[in-house]
Amino acid sequence: MDIKGCVALVTGGNRGIGEGFVRVLLESGARRVYAGSRDPAAAAHLVEAFPERCVALELDVTDAAEVAEAARRCDDVNLLVNNAGLFANQLLLGAPDMSSARQEMEVNYFGTLAMCRAFAPILARNGGGAIVNVLSAAAIVSVPNMGGYAPAKAATRSLSGAVRAELGPQGTQVTALIVGSVDTRMAAHVEGSKEKPEDIARAGLRAVTRGIDELDTDRMAVEVRAALALDPKGLEKRMARMLHSSVIRTGR
Ligand SMILES: NC(=O)c1ccc[n+]([C@@H]2O[C@H](COP(=O)([O-])OP(=O)(O)OC[C@H]3O[C@@H](n4cnc5c(N)ncnc54)[C@H](OP(=O)(O)O)[C@@H]3O)[C@@H](O)[C@H]2O)c1
Repeated sequence: MDIKGCVALVTGGNRGIGEGFVRVLLESGARRVYAGSRDPAAAAHLVEAFPERCVALELDVTDAAEVAEAARRCDDVNLLVNNAGLFANQLLLGAPDMSSARQEMEVNYFGTLAMCRAFAPILARNGGGAIVNVLSAAAIVSVPNMGGYAPAKAATRSLSGAVRAELGPQGTQVTALIVGSVDTRMAAHVEGSKEKPEDIARAGLRAVTRGIDELDTDRMAVEVRAALALDPKGLEKRMARMLHSSVIRTGR
């Protein structure tokens, strides 16, 4: 599908990778971009930068009423970018209780599912269009120090395949992005090299225009994919060693 002239909705569009998508979409000629934001004031800087074409939209993807209202209001969308995400930085069993794991499922998995369900009929009416799900390298390999996050992203990868199959007949393309490490608030604690949010958005939108089902957006994602192909058990053991050395370092 063409990005030029499209009408997009980006969840979590106010900052980080979501903001990268909003900016790159508008710079690439999108007709309108709804920047979903739990607090629309947090997207005001984007509306100011692109006053004619960027619309701040109040949207918490875990709030059924707000998802329904977004679908009612944004009936011209033909590209849905499910970017909103939560990383609680807790272990799975070492967390005090299951609340953070549940919340990570709520935002990353059920939030994406709710948006796909609400916008599937709209995409159908607008010619099929496309859905982009922003996943993580943690969707393709279990990362034990990403407690509830890695299982939630793995579930959302599985969802992407199911949605692709269900919406194939209406011509909706579904692109899953396997993302490595990006310079945003979510990865503020991560050391080492990090990609720019706009570069992830550019890679993601290239995948949409080329009709690619799943794309590794950056070097770390490609390296994880390669390690998985070469020696999956070895990668799992490396991840476990990383967990134990970080537990020793941080005491949790
Ligand atoms: N950064 C990385 O290294 C990295 C790597 C792999 C994948 N990813 C994925 O990339 C996506 C974007 O993450 P990021 O790095 O840009 O993180 P970020 O800077 O922390 O931004 C997260 C965005 O999601 C929004 N959000 C959180 N919960 C929400 C909810 N219930 N409803 C609607 N919006 C919600 C946040 O809104 P508020 O501003 O209101 O909090 C914010 O706009 C996520 O899906 C993340 O899992 C990131």
